[in-house]
Amino acid sequence: MSNPQFDIIVFGATSFVGQILSRYLIEQYGLDSNVKWAIAGRSEGKLVSLKADLGAPAADLDIIIADASDDAQLAAMCAQTRTVISTVGPYALYGEPLVKACCEQGTHYCDLTGEVQWIREMIIKYEAQAKASGARIVHCCGFDSIPSDLGVFFLQQQAAQQFGAACPTVKMRVKAAKGGFSGGTAASLINVAKEAAADPALRKSLANPYSICPTDFRPSRRQHNVKSAEFDADFDAWTAPFVMGAINTRVVHRSNALQHAAYGEEFGYDEAVLTGTGLKGRAAALAVTAGMGGFLVASVIKPTRWALEKFVLPKPGEGPTPKAQREGFYDLRFVGISADGKLLRTKVTGDRDPGYGSTGKMLGEAAMCLTFDLDAATPGGFWTPASLFGHKIIERLEANAGLRFEVMESR
Ligand SMILES: NC(=O)c1ccc[n+]([C@@H]2O[C@H](COP(=O)([O-])OP(=O)(O)OC[C@H]3O[C@@H](n4cnc5c(N)ncnc54)[C@H](OP(=O)(O)O)[C@@H]3O)[C@@H](O)[C@H]2O)c1
Repeated sequence: MSNPQFDIIVFGATSFVGQILSRYLIEQYGLDSNVKWAIAGRSEGKLVSLKADLGAPAADLDIIIADASDDAQLAAMCAQTRTVISTVGPYALYGEPLVKACCEQGTHYCDLTGEVQWIREMIIKYEAQAKASGARIVHCCGFDSIPSDLGVFFLQQQAAQQFGAACPTVKMRVKAAKGGFSGGTAASLINVAKEAAADPALRKSLANPYSICPTDFRPSRRQHNVKSAEFDADFDAWTAPFVMGAINTRVVHRSNALQHAAYGEEFGYDEAVLTGTGLKGRAAALAVTAGMGGFLVASVIKPTRWALEKFVLPKPGEGPTPKAQREGFYDLRFVGISADGKLLRTKVTGDRDPGYGSTGKMLGEAAMCLTFDLDAATPGGFWTPASLFGHKIIERLEANAGLRFEVMESR
């Protein structure tokens, strides 16, 4: 890539999460720092009004117009920058032309997709091109899946130091979280449910924990999967399925594969939500399971899907209020079990609501890491946050983005 004008372009800056991200970049990096960044999207009017809302002086924040379906505009945008961040989703509907353009031109790329079926398709179609051009592509740089992916990475680094080896089994449990949904996330979830309902091969692929791993990485271990209320003796509490587990676990397994099975050839990983102890904990776990099942069923049947979209779920551009974002938080607990039965407990916590307030900051730091922190010799390809950034992003997230990675107990 010859000396592009910008370091980072935020494509989809007008989206709900794109606006949060743009505000974060202004607050954290300003407009006159060493980072040269710009906002992009399809609507000039919306971008101009976002720029005014951000309080950006006319000369200091460039606007680039590009439609997600216009190859020429996307190519021109990619040629102007080292990295593109995309918040234009659902990615399975709008994302491919930009990934293609980045892979062709050697432009680095990160996003917030959690659409595993789409990630798999992008890897199959464009990985060879990304490797050839040097483009580093990193999906899943929001709440899914940075806290899980880097949480496991952190635990395994600690396990190597304390036990001399990685833990062959790790579990993540959501202890507490407060946040909401946006229209874009609702649209993405509904789209996956719709595609899966229509395609049995896709359902099979979504059920495969190694579906986005390289094809030569196929462990024989059957992964545990919390599908209903289950008592977890390691946490002495009841657990329920975690809605993001189906994404995060796939990303963690790809991270293991890309790090040459650093967590083990037969590594086991699962996620769930802690719902408490006793009969109350069990009842809560059953209620979460029923709620998730109900949502899934409602989103695949046409009339109930219509009712969900019309009356229940937020519309595109809508999401949690600034107050709800500020008051949100999350607390994720990890336990690693060593080959000889020792336990290592760690936690990852974040301020702000997970899906937006915190996600905007994580995505911004992922883009900074992608653009500034990596060795020039780091090859192109489809990476994961942990396999590409490792401890470098943990340092950034702790210094700037309100996350903490801590060891709680080792015995
Ligand atoms: N991984 C995570 O933790 C996480 C968290 C939050 C969100 N997400 C994902 O992030 C994505 C964005 O969510 P959101 O709620 O912020 O979405 P949103 O508010 O609905 O915004 C969608 C964006 O896409 C743009 N767009 C749509 N079609 C386009 C086209 N043809 N060309 C250019 N731009 C186009 C829209 O532009 P206009 O403004 O011009 O309409 C808007 O900027 C979703 O896929 C969501 O699932 C993931």
